[in-house]
Amino acid sequence: MKNVTSPDMSGRHENFLKSLVAFSQEHRAAQWSGGFGAFLETIFRNDPSGITRSSHEYTWDMIRTEGCADDKGQLHCRLFEDELYGIDDTLDRLVDYFKAASAGSEVGRRLLLLLGPPSGGKSSLVILLKRGLEEYSHTDAGALYAIHGCPVHESPVHLVPHTLRPQFRQTYGVEITGELCPYCVTRMTHECSGDFMQMPVHRVFISEAGRVGVGTYAPHDPTTADIADLVGSVDLSKVAEFGDEGDPRAWSWSGAVYAASRGLLEMIEILKVKREFLYLLLTLTQEKNVKVSRFPLIYVDETIIAHTNLAEFRKFLQESENEALLDRMVIIQVPYTLSYKEEAKIYRKLTSSTQAFREVHLDPHALHLAAVFAILTRLQEGDDKEAEPAKKVRLYAGEEVEGVPRGESEKMHARTPEEGLSGVSPRFVINALSNAITQSQARSLTSMEVLLALKDSIESDARMDATKKRKWVDFLVIARKDFYNRWVKEDVHKALFVSFEQEAQELLNKYLDEVDATLDNRQVKDPITGEERKPDERFLRSVEDKIKISDSGKISFRQEVVRKAMGAYKRGEKFSLDSHAQLHDAVEQYLFEQRRDVLRLVSSTTRPDEETREKISVVEKRLADEYGYDSHSAREALNYVTTLLAQE
Ligand SMILES: Nc1ncnc2c1ncn2[C@@H]1O[C@H](COP(=O)(O)OP(=O)(O)OP(=O)(O)O)[C@@H](O)[C@H]1O
Ligand SMILES: [Mg+2]
Ligand SMILES: [Zn+2]
Repeated sequence: MKNVTSPDMSGRHENFLKSLVAFSQEHRAAQWSGGFGAFLETIFRNDPSGITRSSHEYTWDMIRTEGCADDKGQLHCRLFEDELYGIDDTLDRLVDYFKAASAGSEVGRRLLLLLGPPSGGKSSLVILLKRGLEEYSHTDAGALYAIHGCPVHESPVHLVPHTLRPQFRQTYGVEITGELCPYCVTRMTHECSGDFMQMPVHRVFISEAGRVGVGTYAPHDPTTADIADLVGSVDLSKVAEFGDEGDPRAWSWSGAVYAASRGLLEMIEILKVKREFLYLLLTLTQEKNVKVSRFPLIYVDETIIAHTNLAEFRKFLQESENEALLDRMVIIQVPYTLSYKEEAKIYRKLTSSTQAFREVHLDPHALHLAAVFAILTRLQEGDDKEAEPAKKVRLYAGEEVEGVPRGESEKMHARTPEEGLSGVSPRFVINALSNAITQSQARSLTSMEVLLALKDSIESDARMDATKKRKWVDFLVIARKDFYNRWVKEDVHKALFVSFEQEAQELLNKYLDEVDATLDNRQVKDPITGEERKPDERFLRSVEDKIKISDSGKISFRQEVVRKAMGAYKRGEKFSLDSHAQLHDAVEQYLFEQRRDVLRLVSSTTRPDEETREKISVVEKRLADEYGYDSHSAREALNYVTTLLAQE
């Protein structure tokens, strides 16, 4: 058979094989097993405090190795960085929770409850923590040891009898918390004749699939959910073998609580479960033990992270008897992001992992535009009139908005704390886009088509009433008028130039030279002819006109520009369009006006001649080559902008 693999492909194949081999070697090397005596001798004495870490300390160490602190000392976790966007406050709070809990604060004895709207990233957040723990347990720093065969993979130091624990503390400087589980107690008697030094110990690796250090519980049907799912039950098939229902070896230790021991227990939709479950879990976090059947208390150390949505939470709050329970939880809100740029990153992530999307070209604003719509639905109408929605959307994305001081967006958000807790979810948007793709069979989706797809989804949504539908359709209009129009006009205008950036910079330099000369009252020397002439006041005014600088305001505007230019010069920076937002607009508009005739040609001639067609196709090509369009969306954009201009 002919070998059809490309050299590139086979190179990658080689590399992957190498990685696999390295991976398996690393893992084999890291294994350890032996008796408790050998464990103390060879493993424990090298790192007593590492080995006796609690689940909170362990997780905190994992987060720390994955993280780095910013200027303010706040630790950011790399674990979340490329996966979760626009919810930094939530992540900071989560990190702080583990920091405090591992420092011994009371919060470690409370259950962590993630509260947020649907599809807001709660599950993703917990998944990342789980994956982080799994990986960490494979590192040297994250080595975790357990009694071999123990259903809760408990710490080997539990084997040290109470009478010897004070001496243990003096010797190693660490405290032992926790009791041997009933299962190990029985085994020690039967298998090691009571000699705890012989009990087998091994290194364990956290693994959700292997049910070690990670447990997940999701109520299928709250009414039939049995507490046995969490803590196990008598295993009738084994009762005969051990002769006694009370023998821990005849117990089925399959509950999620046991699997999660030493690590993390995720409770999905926790407020849907029976009250009985909740009490058990709250006791577990507070006292670190569970009571089942005829056994004494079973010591279990794990971090419980639960999640719930707002509707469920509000219902829960209404029952007064729940107040005491609330006291025993730490609540972290997981809202939707309010930055459309971050929101668009979520769509990018979700679309790039789907085959259907990968085959489709999206114009460069499609996702941002959908994101603007999503943020608009999440905003809360505040009392302040100045905070009109479109402005807020821009401020929340970190853009400068004229007339609004920096830092105002935080204050605005503080006045409307419910923002981000309702509105459109990322999933709604992605579903709308998927529908558009499958229905049209298109290989290319433009921003306008995305808006139409969203409109369809809104109108066919059975859960929404007419008023809300109308409101959301209005948001689509705002998104188009206040965002898309601006973006697409800028693209098309820039594409009218061979090198827009260069021409803009030249124009800016000319403006600066002329301003300089007028302020100093001197002549300008023509670079080509060498002739001296007066500064070109008409040119200056026609630029300033574009941003409505009045005749009386022009001097102070020019002085400010020169000041900024000087500042940049002193710092050794180039004064460019990005250095001055207002001048940026002015220069752009000035240049655009010069080239408008080309756009007029697009619409004015029904049967364009060869020369016109040529001019238009050059612009389309630039849109495709430099601004991220394909031929379909470039043509649409060009037509759209010409229509806009005709309306101006
Ligand atoms: N802030 C975000 N950053 C990155 N991805 C996000 C974000 N929010 C949601 N997602 C993505 O949206 C999808 C749904 O999120 P996830 O399932 O984590 O939400 P959830 O809060 O658990 O929802 P539910 O309440 O429906 O269980 C996931 O694919 C997730 O990656
Ligand atoms: Mg979820
Ligand atoms: Zn045990």
